[in-house]
Amino acid sequence: MNGYDLARPLLFSLPAETAHGFVHRGLELAQATPLADAMESRYTVEDARLQVEAFDQTFGNPVGVAAGFDKNATVVGGLAALGFGFVEVGGVTAEPQTGNARPRMFRLREDEAIINRMGLNNHGAAIVGDRLAGTDARVPVGVNIAKSEHVGTDDAPGDYRETYEEVAEGGDFFVVNISCPNSQGFEELQNKESMAAILGGLKDAGAGPLLVKLAPDLPEPAIEDALEIVRDLDLDGVVATNTSTERPASLRSKNRVETGGLSGKPIEDQATQMVRFVAERVDVPVVGVGGVSSAEGAYRKIRAGATLVELYTALVYEGPSLAREINEGLLELLDEDGFDSVEDAIGADL
Ligand code: FNR
Repeated sequence: MNGYDLARPLLFSLPAETAHGFVHRGLELAQATPLADAMESRYTVEDARLQVEAFDQTFGNPVGVAAGFDKNATVVGGLAALGFGFVEVGGVTAEPQTGNARPRMFRLREDEAIINRMGLNNHGAAIVGDRLAGTDARVPVGVNIAKSEHVGTDDAPGDYRETYEEVAEGGDFFVVNISCPNSQGFEELQNKESMAAILGGLKDAGAGPLLVKLAPDLPEPAIEDALEIVRDLDLDGVVATNTSTERPASLRSKNRVETGGLSGKPIEDQATQMVRFVAERVDVPVVGVGGVSSAEGAYRKIRAGATLVELYTALVYEGPSLAREINEGLLELLDEDGFDSVEDAIGADL
């Protein structure tokens, strides 16, 4: 029994977003006190075999927090103290947004999943950019950049660029989110012309390291198109994947009827397949995300070609010791298979 076995029933008795708010507040308070050092030594696994190089930076371990958990970059320090190797903050938009009406985040407990339709609620690029610039993060910080709700497809390139310019100073890498299923007008952004215009505009603005985040539901020809752009524009990486709009027949929870993006266990295999599909076709790092909840799951994505992995949903179900458990487990799995390091195992199954 760990501490989270006590906290989970309390948190799960609250609406999902309220519980998330409590956890956030706790991290925010803790990171400003000596408790952060205690957390860091409890949860961080320091081992050179876990180190990964990507985007000209060193990641102390390959396990990061996915976009959406720290939308406003307020708990980067707290998440680093939980032993994560990096944090992707955001999605951030040019102006502040309130997002969709509540409730907009639902646990599917029987399925170890979440459905969310948050709608990119965030404090806006200027505030998040300033906050990041004033944060002395111990781990690399990625910024997830999204389209403002009121902006149409034609104006999207300028909108993304505006956001980028506000957050450029504070981020270590930038993830272009063209795959959010919960905000207006994202469906069209993943077609080839829109993607090329958005990503080309960011490249012209000197953005980098620049990654693009794709939806798990993209048909193969659309993924091929996206990867052609990644190669043509010389992007620095691909994040696979965002949440899914599909509803696998296996879902049991009554909340499966909610509208929004599905994350967690039910999308794990689909996301891993997408990691493999992408890694087979591009030479840049792939960030694997979708249903990672254990060392085995992280290792599967790494062997399928992921240089880094990220998670969100499993943090809700497994609690604060998850990064440590995954990193310790990864070291054992590497040992069993005779790999000297995580880097040696990347793409082992390709
Ligand atoms: C997300 N995710 C997300 N992704 C993104 O690119 N921008 C965002 O703002 C958000 N917001 C968000 C909110 C909530 C409540 C959830 C659950 C998820 C998607 C997230 O980064 C990730 O891609 C998926 O959740 C799949 O990973 P997990 O949750 O299965 O580990």
